[in-house]
Amino acid sequence: MDESLETVLVAFDDERGVGTITMNRPDALNALNGQLRDDIIAGLESLEERNANADGVALRAVVLEGAGEKAFCAGADIGGFSSESAGGSSARSHYDVIRDFPAPVIAKIDGYCLGGGLETALACDFRLASEDSTFGFPEVNLGILPGAGGVQYVEKLAGPSVAKELAMFGNHISAERAGDEGLVNHVYADNEFEDEVDDFVTELAGQAPLAVQAIKKSAAMAVQTGLEEGIEYDRQLFAELLETEDHAEGAAAFGEDREPEFEGK
Ligand code: CAA
Repeated sequence: MDESLETVLVAFDDERGVGTITMNRPDALNALNGQLRDDIIAGLESLEERNANADGVALRAVVLEGAGEKAFCAGADIGGFSSESAGGSSARSHYDVIRDFPAPVIAKIDGYCLGGGLETALACDFRLASEDSTFGFPEVNLGILPGAGGVQYVEKLAGPSVAKELAMFGNHISAERAGDEGLVNHVYADNEFEDEVDDFVTELAGQAPLAVQAIKKSAAMAVQTGLEEGIEYDRQLFAELLETEDHAEGAAAFGEDREPEFEGK
């Protein structure tokens, strides 16, 4: 399936179960206007429909990337910033939809990742960056703060000093520093970036999909609740996973010394 929405390209690789959403406003460095926010949501929903008619889990992972040579996303569209359309027309923000999406979403970052673009990446489950990428919260230069939880996310990942430095100074930091601070999972050399991201995504997509979905839910619960409640939640997820065919397949494959083939059942 290759599908075009107004500002987003959607593709699906049947063999690996990997969807790709390409934010496609390269002339504006993929800045987030209302249309792009809506199209990211519509693209994710259309990928999720793959699971509806599947026997098991068809969609194993989603890659979110930016079109063009220069940017993942340069943040909110400053031109349409104060207009009503800037937020998109959906009841839920694209940040929420990414965070709550059942399959893991990987931000593939090659270039500028700023403001709402960085918040979009932070809403994803993984961030993989090319070495020339740069990160920052320039909102302070516009007299505002990152409005979708950017400071909260960075504080959790990298601590309060880094969160305040990024948001109060508005400067860009390198991919290397973003990696050192724990804001991105991996930084790859430019000439290896495509292959490394592909390998990462292929391996993730081959993992037991119901377990991966449960781990995403568990990780989300961990930031919302106390330890006791979180552990109780994990116990329930664990009990459910014990009943799955994937668990039986994983155990059988281990006993037979072969690679498991998970179907998401
Ligand atoms: N909104 C709209 N257009 C943008 C944009 C943005 N956020 N960022 C870049 N563009 C446009 C530029 O206006 C330019 O368009 P034209 O060719 O028509 O002039 C084009 O993209 C290329 O940009 P530059 O020529 O500026 O490219 P550069 O390489 O010299 O600089 C940059 C790149 C450092 C990212 C610079 O464009 C910049 O600082 N952009 C603004 C970044 C920013 O402030 N983002 C935060 C917005 S606020 C926010 O994100 C908060 C929120 O979600 C609520």
